[in-house]
Amino acid sequence: MLVFSGVQPTGTLHIGNYIGSIKQWISLQKEYPCVFCIVDLHAITVRHVPAKLRTLTLDVAATYLAAGVDFERHILFVQSEVAEHTQLTWILNSLAKVSELKLMHQFKEKSKEDAKNINAALFDYPVLMAADILLYKATHVPIGHDQMQHMEITRELARRFNAQFGEVFPIPEGVLHKFGARIMGLDDPTKKMAKTASSAYNYILLTDTIDEARDKIKHAVTDSGREIIFGEKKPAVSNLITIYSALTDTPISDIEKKYEGKGYKEFKEGLADAICEFLGTFQKKYKKFRSDEKLLNSILDDGAKRAKKIASKTFAEVRDAVGLGRGDSK
Ligand code: TYM
Repeated sequence: MLVFSGVQPTGTLHIGNYIGSIKQWISLQKEYPCVFCIVDLHAITVRHVPAKLRTLTLDVAATYLAAGVDFERHILFVQSEVAEHTQLTWILNSLAKVSELKLMHQFKEKSKEDAKNINAALFDYPVLMAADILLYKATHVPIGHDQMQHMEITRELARRFNAQFGEVFPIPEGVLHKFGARIMGLDDPTKKMAKTASSAYNYILLTDTIDEARDKIKHAVTDSGREIIFGEKKPAVSNLITIYSALTDTPISDIEKKYEGKGYKEFKEGLADAICEFLGTFQKKYKKFRSDEKLLNSILDDGAKRAKKIASKTFAEVRDAVGLGRGDSK
């Protein structure tokens, strides 16, 4: 078993990214070998500023470490530093169908956001993601719900490759957080929390100050009634309970019990306290890692070396299976 996951360095991460994805890594790394990637090649599928991308790459590395990624036991690296990711993408492109890529929700949404820049890389984004995962023969991929469609394509490409060229890849599975796979916007519980949301009241960033976070929780949308209960009839409150539960590792039923007979005001105060405690601890560690670029660079250098070792071995197998070159990976 091997775990692979990644985040794009496109901006500061929010608590949805943390709960849906990174938090799961921290528990999985106790049991399984893990490879954690900063997917900078995915980040250039939308317009970007080169110098900013560099800064964000180190920001994301510091975020992984502050969240608790164990860089000694596991691999932490930058995607573009291991060339096999793009090389395997090309080979998988020969198996991917234009018709199935056209169905991807994320492609459709991002095409709407910037209609003048629907580039070929944005279209091919899921194939690069499949290459990321398959290059390490990963079996488990902790992600948020919005990435499940990309996971299905990855599984399909692995099956197709194995059927055509012989068994090379295990079929990987997406791993979803039990309740937090889709953290919703604080200002609109019908849409997922997203860094691209038009209002900052949609999300809590991992870099938000305590005052900003408290203010956002105070303004968070609630449902009719006043009971703190989890369920379909209370989408806004359920989302807040989920955040509370995930950040404090408290079962949902314990939170319902704690706030039985109490109103939204008291619940929101408790939630704001929990979020602020989490942010305080996280930010202290983040500052420490982010201010030590020498350490960050040495962790990423070492990670790229270790990742390259696995990636080049798989890629040699792939080349031979596909019939590229003159055999035996020449
Ligand atoms: P990205 O950078 O958009 O998001 C990082 C992770 O955060 C999850 N996420 C959420 N989870 C719960 N609630 C939300 N509101 C929420 N918003 C985002 C995402 O599902 C994701 O897991 N394509 C990926 C990056 C990637 C990747 C990979 C992931 C590239 N290659 C290989 C896993 C394996 C992405 O865009 O994530």
